[in-house]
Amino acid sequence: MKDRAKMIGFIHGADYNPDQWLDNPEIIDEDFRLMELAGMNSATIGVFSWKKLEPQEGVYQFQWLDEIMDRMAEKGMRVILAAPSGARPAWMDKMHPEVLRVSQERVPNLHGERHNHCYTAPYYREKTAQMNRMLAERYGNHPALFMWHVNNEYGGECHCELCQNAFREWLKEKYHNDIEELNSQWWTGFWSHGFSDFDEIESPSERGEHSLHGLKLDWRRFVTDQTIDFFRNESRPFRELTPHIPVTTNLMGMYKCFNPWKMAPFMDVISWDSYPEWGKDGAGDSGRAYDTGFQHDLMRTLKKQPFYLMESTPSMVNWREVNRLKRPKVHELTAVQAVAHGSDSVQYFQWRKGRGASEKFHGAVVDHCGTADTRVFKDVQRCGELLQKIREIAGTEIKAKAALLFDWENSWAIEDLQGWRQPRLYDETVRQHYTALKKLGLDVDIVDEECDFSDYRILAAPMLYMLRAGVAERLKHFVERGGCLVLTYGTGQVDENDLCFLGGFPGGGLSEVAGVWAEEMDALYDSERNGMQLSDTDGVDREYEVDSYCELVHPKENCEVLARYTKDFYAGMAALTKNYFGEGCCYYLACRCEQALLDELYGKIAKEQDIAKEILRVPDGVDVSRRESEGVTYVFLMNFSNENQTIVLPENAQYADFFTGEKREHVQLAKNEYSILMVEKSI
Ligand code: GLA
Ligand code: ZN
Repeated sequence: MKDRAKMIGFIHGADYNPDQWLDNPEIIDEDFRLMELAGMNSATIGVFSWKKLEPQEGVYQFQWLDEIMDRMAEKGMRVILAAPSGARPAWMDKMHPEVLRVSQERVPNLHGERHNHCYTAPYYREKTAQMNRMLAERYGNHPALFMWHVNNEYGGECHCELCQNAFREWLKEKYHNDIEELNSQWWTGFWSHGFSDFDEIESPSERGEHSLHGLKLDWRRFVTDQTIDFFRNESRPFRELTPHIPVTTNLMGMYKCFNPWKMAPFMDVISWDSYPEWGKDGAGDSGRAYDTGFQHDLMRTLKKQPFYLMESTPSMVNWREVNRLKRPKVHELTAVQAVAHGSDSVQYFQWRKGRGASEKFHGAVVDHCGTADTRVFKDVQRCGELLQKIREIAGTEIKAKAALLFDWENSWAIEDLQGWRQPRLYDETVRQHYTALKKLGLDVDIVDEECDFSDYRILAAPMLYMLRAGVAERLKHFVERGGCLVLTYGTGQVDENDLCFLGGFPGGGLSEVAGVWAEEMDALYDSERNGMQLSDTDGVDREYEVDSYCELVHPKENCEVLARYTKDFYAGMAALTKNYFGEGCCYYLACRCEQALLDELYGKIAKEQDIAKEILRVPDGVDVSRRESEGVTYVFLMNFSNENQTIVLPENAQYADFFTGEKREHVQLAKNEYSILMVEKSI
């Protein structure tokens, strides 16, 4: 993939729906003229084209697509060709209603919308594989074919009888056909919910069982596996007939319905659709920038290779309560941010606004006025020019020494537990830790429990409530070998089936690494606050605000107490501790606290871990990211804050402006401005 990226540079493209304009050939002619003018080198075609490809069962028409593919090739443009299974023509649902989804209330859907299919129904599996075989046979050697885009934003679940049976088979396999093993893992003695046979089990439903956390977790795992199985089934013809063409499907960032870590090994390129609410409430974008950077980093870490930004809007969306325009410079800045965090593409939904239906007012490169003389078109054009100029950066890597553990299954378990408080704040807390690391100018990988931790010096693992088998041992090993682990309240309470560890939290052996035993968890109301007093080595005492969660922990022998609670009946108890273990150490933060404490804590850790050299302290709202080629580090500085910012560059390296080659000691950025710098590596 890396060599391929070096050869072709960045992809600049959009979702293109010529199938909606077949009766207007003059519009299609104009599309080809405008795409060139906009500096596009790619288009994603056919995402929802099934009706135009197979207007009636067994009747196919590919001629329109043949023509579009040929015209794309003539222009030297690349096609990301879609498998159209994200939506179906009405004839199919009428003839094969079993393809329609059934909701958790057990109500079958009617025809319509999209993503409205059962992942199990044999007919749809056969039909999608057959359609994709035809596409692969027809276009497999077409010069414009660049990548397969399978389905669109997989998601949702189906509770039909076919899915229920598949779930029962999945459970039989997991529990070795032993219903008693399942009963004990799901703790079904509770409320007399034990099963005598796998046939008695139903998927979770608000009308039925929703108190067995083991059942709900297994259902999410099954939905993940079934989605992947469907994806693999429809990708099979591509794998067989076009092994040289990469396969992707567009993911949705933090979307929790299935676990993307399980999907990633079956994708050649990770791609995702990003629609942050830039400028929400007219306020600054600092928080949103960290949030978006976090998701880009997650997408990159899924395969530890550059990813594709498959969709973004060049202006506004149409599905929010308030659909705000992107302000001047915001499009370019946010496109650069994707690239800075590892994207090898900038792509849009959509090329041209349709005339009717629900997306007619969704942002597009070409508006209903149809001209290139618009602000948005010019923004896109400039972005195309920029991607050309920075072409050498495509395919380069990001090498992070810090990682943040954000685990999908843990997130499901936290959301599902009854207790603690609402909102749980798992995503928010993970992002708080991420922000502290980013303010140090560090690159950060986002890992899950099953990743290899050995590349990192710092591993932040907030609220790691669930520890799947083997994870505690691997974390222990990470610290033993010199890593610095940050754990917090709520860690190690349950195993992979949501059964509590006995013998004290954090369980699974992590208590020894953390050096604490957590006895109770206090939840605070939104308006309540506690405090923590930190005695630093510089002798200055500082107090930080504490909110939402306060765990009552007992430090073990040799565990250092760095901060104590200041209020309530647990005032004076440990709020932050440090425990040396093997060659490394583990910090345990017993409560949720304000950002300033985390900024201070991670600053201290970075120094201790000897990665201070890489620190490029930046003001709040300035995002930093680096991409590395063999000889050069490309440093991106992006100002998402509302103020002008000055960034002083560390003296230990020579920074030069990417575009002018001028040496730089500091950089000044107005709001929504960015800078790309280069540092030559000493060999
Ligand atoms: C998603 C879909 C697109 C389009 C956009 C609109 O990302 O994949 O088809 O509906 O949303 O923002
Ligand atoms: Zn189903």
